[in-house]
Amino acid sequence: MIRTNLQLDQNGRLRHFLTIEGLKRQMLIDILDTAESLAGVVDQQVKKVPLLRGKTVVNLFFEASTRTRTTFELAAKRLSADVINLNIAASAAKKGETLLDTLHNLEAMHCDMFVVRHEESGAAHFIARHVAPHISVINAGDGRHAHPTQAMLDMYTIRQVKGDFYPLKVAIVGDILHSRVARSQIHALTTLGVSEVRVIGPKTLLPKDVESLGVHVYHNLIKGLEGVDVVIMLRLQNERMEGAMLPSEHEYFQLYGLTESTLAAAKPDAIVMHPGPINRGVEIESSIADGPRSVILQQVTNGIAVRMAVMSMCMGSHASAGDGGAA
Ligand code: CP
Repeated sequence: MIRTNLQLDQNGRLRHFLTIEGLKRQMLIDILDTAESLAGVVDQQVKKVPLLRGKTVVNLFFEASTRTRTTFELAAKRLSADVINLNIAASAAKKGETLLDTLHNLEAMHCDMFVVRHEESGAAHFIARHVAPHISVINAGDGRHAHPTQAMLDMYTIRQVKGDFYPLKVAIVGDILHSRVARSQIHALTTLGVSEVRVIGPKTLLPKDVESLGVHVYHNLIKGLEGVDVVIMLRLQNERMEGAMLPSEHEYFQLYGLTESTLAAAKPDAIVMHPGPINRGVEIESSIADGPRSVILQQVTNGIAVRMAVMSMCMGSHASAGDGGAA
């Protein structure tokens, strides 16, 4: 297991944000409450607050991203930080420079925060172990391991629509095996105390020990969706599959695709979520993705406030340690 307390300072405050695993319920609530207090910044005439003024944030995306990279950049700018998007494809990493040498060079430029997406599980933890004490590392997705800000923006969206976590039944459908999002969502949902978390998918796309995470396993979509309040769809992560794990996308859609007919098994007021990118006609029908029960674009919007919250909380930990303040 990857060490989790690396992300807290000696006072139990966030120093890095690497994984949901091991964080207490109150910490997750604090992130949601802070995000709620920052969400209104967008309605101000000047869409900025000075919480990260004078700080420099570097986006280090070694893997493709649309939503996460852009919302981290917007979040940092709304916190008044300076933001650098390192173009990995055009960086010295392509000339053989190691990851640590790249990081030490960025440290030498007095950067304060690294937002990291990497195809290797554990990459963000590795970086957090090697950076200077004043630097915060935020995991923007590492291999199949964790995507903690995605999970928190999903929790924010669930709370925004449903209010209380305790009575909710939540189903996560699809390729759980390769999904860092699903792992982080399961940790967040169980920590926040929802009534039931279900995972639904074919045996080949579920981790063998998934029940140990406190979830109920279903292989039949209709049975799994019966009576749920929240349906979270996942895409097939073909880039992480080794060999053929499914007969065909067409057959997968027949068995696990969310359609008007399969969604009817959930509660009438159930919401439909998806971290994106969506693959229409593979895991979700367009009429559902674009329909009245979909909160998929609301999730994207909420990503900005949640990332503002996480970044400001991590930098606040440094400020309270006496490094000159974040605001
Ligand atoms: N949900 C998510 O991580 O999307 P991106 O890959 O576009 O960042």
